[in-house]
Amino acid sequence: MHDFQFKNNELYCEKIKVREIANKVGTPLYLYSHHTLVDHFTKIKKAFAPVNPMICFAMKANGNLAVLKTLLNEGAGVDIVSQGELLKALKLKADPKKIVFASVGKTEEEIALAIKTGILFFNVESVPELEEINRVAQKMNKKTQAALRVNPDVEAATHHFITTGTLKNKFGIDLKSTYDILKSQKKYPHVKISGLHIHIGSQLTTNEPFIKAIKKIVEFISSLKNEGIDIEYLDIGGGMGIIYKDEKPQTAQEYADSILPILKRTSLKIIMEPGRFIVGNAGIFVTKVLYIKDNGYKKFIIVDGAMNDLIRPSLYHAYHEIVPLKKAEVDTGTFDVVGPVCESGDFFAKDRVLPKVIQGDFLAIMSAGAYGYVMSSNYNVRCRAPEVMVHGNKYAVVKDRETYQDLMRGEHIPEFLK
Ligand code: LLP
Repeated sequence: MHDFQFKNNELYCEKIKVREIANKVGTPLYLYSHHTLVDHFTKIKKAFAPVNPMICFAMKANGNLAVLKTLLNEGAGVDIVSQGELLKALKLKADPKKIVFASVGKTEEEIALAIKTGILFFNVESVPELEEINRVAQKMNKKTQAALRVNPDVEAATHHFITTGTLKNKFGIDLKSTYDILKSQKKYPHVKISGLHIHIGSQLTTNEPFIKAIKKIVEFISSLKNEGIDIEYLDIGGGMGIIYKDEKPQTAQEYADSILPILKRTSLKIIMEPGRFIVGNAGIFVTKVLYIKDNGYKKFIIVDGAMNDLIRPSLYHAYHEIVPLKKAEVDTGTFDVVGPVCESGDFFAKDRVLPKVIQGDFLAIMSAGAYGYVMSSNYNVRCRAPEVMVHGNKYAVVKDRETYQDLMRGEHIPEFLK
């Protein structure tokens, strides 16, 4: 469920007409519902209450400070993948002991800042990375913590770009090497290896791959115990799928019901890293119809948003529902919904049956809260769209539309061209 609903044929976000915001702020724009964010976070928290997990929001899904603040206010921790994300989390005074840091390519600078901050742990993805963390910690005369990201070699039925838990992917460490590292922990005196981490992919709509991976890792952990190796934390990653079209993903409760029996048999401290589940359906992208074009073969709705704003359809052929802000009951034609960018790959939908729309109408591209704004770019020298958050009958611009000055900042004409 989410708080973008039609009332009297007009799309509302919570208690405000989306059209009102589009008219005031201008398009294109991203719009988030505060209530939906809190609701989705609470659903996970309640469902998993029996193991009282630390729920670290994967801010790669949406790094907006107001979104993050909403979740921090609810008690969330943060799953980060870069120094930029760490700095954003720190700006909001996130508790460092609730920050976990993944990424296959952490730099020395990133590692040093995270150690200085005192984050809970690094999710370590390779032996050389572990060596580097140990070296940096030694240089700083500190001891830090790590969880080894295990690649459980489990196939997750999702788009091949976002499956991460098989040995064909760059992520994590295979089980045998994980075992070898744990056996030789003394080599890394400045790193306490206190946890294991898995994340097998994103937008998973069935429980089976999760169950399979978690079972595998829990069995592995208990076999380690027999050898005197104690693991304190298990980070089960993110990946819970949402409804974009007609998927029937597991609810938070169904997900919990399927894995809690495995987790409850252990005394592990559980960490979760949901991103999309919390924010995906808590956001939409609003765009305006510029032109309707009929070339005799195909009809195109040309809008003011583009692939630089929301790249998921172009990149993954992802389906996003598209609705006019004013609901019309009758579908009148099949259209490609496209942006102004100079590429055939610039589309939000292909051959989509839609109701009649005319120039100047607004369209909402649904389920755009996760991996939307964060993956936007300035391609074609287009300013990034603003982000707006609704809270009941109030709204606020939580990130300004970029300006052309922003776009040219830092560019210089060298002397030899003058
Ligand atoms: N933890 C780790 C280590 C991850 O790599 C990810 C996502 C998450 C947690 C959060 O996963 P979620 O709960 O959001 O599924 N850009 C793609 C998705 C990339 C996912 C990357 N990793 C998309 O637009 O579908």
